[in-house]
Amino acid sequence: MSKTVLIAGASRGIGLEFAVQYAAEGWQVVAGCRSPEKAKGWMPAKVDLQVLDITDTNSIATLGWHLDDEPLDLLVVNAGVLGPDTNSFSAPGDAAFDQVMHTNVLGPMRMIQAFGANVARTGGVIAVMSSKMGAIGSTTGKDALAYRCSKAATNMVTRVAANEYGPLGATVVCLHPGWVRTDMGGPNAMVGVSESVEGLRKVIAGLGPDDNGSFLDYTGHRLDW
Ligand SMILES: NC(=O)c1ccc[n+]([C@@H]2O[C@H](COP(=O)([O-])OP(=O)(O)OC[C@H]3O[C@@H](n4cnc5c(N)ncnc54)[C@H](OP(=O)(O)O)[C@@H]3O)[C@@H](O)[C@H]2O)c1
Repeated sequence: MSKTVLIAGASRGIGLEFAVQYAAEGWQVVAGCRSPEKAKGWMPAKVDLQVLDITDTNSIATLGWHLDDEPLDLLVVNAGVLGPDTNSFSAPGDAAFDQVMHTNVLGPMRMIQAFGANVARTGGVIAVMSSKMGAIGSTTGKDALAYRCSKAATNMVTRVAANEYGPLGATVVCLHPGWVRTDMGGPNAMVGVSESVEGLRKVIAGLGPDDNGSFLDYTGHRLDW
């Protein structure tokens, strides 16, 4: 029987590539996008394209009704925003702060709460897309303050979720995709999107219960918090 993955934030970039690669491997792919009609053109036809805005509780609930109790082998919480791309220490405005934190922190909390049990039932994986920019111990930069803070919080969301859903059977991890050539990463980034996602899929496939609560990059390297 084929496996099922739910990808949150699959309209472009890393999320879209996850959908394309898992579909090509024969998985059932549920792709959550804010504007599915925009993604339709480049999404494989067999992908179940669903409306999903992870900052909107109604949108998450509607997807929950659609999936009902369907077992999920993998939940990828990929949706994320960069927010103000400042070069120096610079507090964001209220609206920018709210958007970054709602998307990168509250969104993963709500997605895991909504679908964690579906994953635990299969002994599957919850993969939250974080970033090395959220690793407090290795921080040397002073740019993208809101984004860095949000991803540090994303990491905590993942760790707490690991404590909740690990004992129920899921493996919960946060992943760093590398610096990837997407709209967010920009054209000068070091890693191509297909290379990043191939690596991330390999990492996910190799996970076991002992990895619950880990922070790993797309090569499988363990990252410090
Ligand atoms: N690229 C990098 O170098 C890099 C490095 C480290 C971590 N990451 C992380 O990897 C993830 C994907 O990044 P990316 O480079 O692929 O970014 P991207 O090209 O900017 O794509 C972001 C994706 O997130 C979706 N999204 C944003 N807000 C959403 C919401 N409220 N609900 C649903 N979907 C939403 C976007 O949908 P729309 O099309 O509707 O906007 C889009 O599909 C992010 O979490 C990012 O922080 C990226």
